[in-house]
Amino acid sequence: MLTAILTGLRDSRLVWDLLGPLYNHRIHHALHELFEHIARDLSLQGNAQVLDVGAGPGHLALRVAELHPSSTVTGVDFSPMQVRAARRLQRSREIGNCRFSKANAMHLPFDEARFDAVVSVGSIKHWPDPLQGIREMVRVLRPGGLLLVSETDREAAQDDLERFMERFTAWYLWNPLLLWGLRRIVFGQSFSEGQLMKLLERSGSREVQAHRLEGCPYVIVKARRG
Ligand SMILES: C[S@@+](CC[C@H](N)C(=O)[O-])C[C@H]1O[C@@H](n2cnc3c(N)ncnc32)[C@H](O)[C@@H]1O
Repeated sequence: MLTAILTGLRDSRLVWDLLGPLYNHRIHHALHELFEHIARDLSLQGNAQVLDVGAGPGHLALRVAELHPSSTVTGVDFSPMQVRAARRLQRSREIGNCRFSKANAMHLPFDEARFDAVVSVGSIKHWPDPLQGIREMVRVLRPGGLLLVSETDREAAQDDLERFMERFTAWYLWNPLLLWGLRRIVFGQSFSEGQLMKLLERSGSREVQAHRLEGCPYVIVKARRG
């Protein structure tokens, strides 16, 4: 019961609007290596169009734009607060080839086959229908384009979770409660590697593969649009 209530709050747009700054404040440090790995792994060519769904404060989208200056990166998020935070970060970093707008992953406001790569990190567990959202990601991807989804691993090892928490924690957070919340709500109500792979397979993607970053409690699954 408590888990269901807290998971509902975790996924609510209002909660992201209100508490997003708390997450944003600490996330870059905690996920820096994951963002760097994904941004470098995209192997984009020419004037590639990239979409980040549930982009939050925009760290990944901006890093992709920075590393691939001839590409154009679009970040979308359903929380207006997150979109504003991403635009602020973009202005402060003076990165021109990136834009952020408000959109719900359930109905992406883009034409079919518009993007060369579509990514999402840590967002699909919040979606009311993750398969519908992944089908939307596939729809806006060109045939052969790269789909990359990364999520908190519900089967993450306790050690990895504790090390991850150390990057996240602050004096005002009580660690036993934080660890409980991470284990039960953030990771516990998420996806395992097998579940994520199955979801991408069901979306009609091909060449579905999973890989990991040493010590990082996130699953990374890549595929191609058929
Ligand atoms: C855990 S944060 C991840 C943010 C960012 N990808 C990162 O890794 O820092 C989850 C984000 O997904 C967004 N989100 C949740 N449900 C969404 C939906 N249905 N459509 C679009 N964005 C959504 C939230 O507003 C939040 O910014």
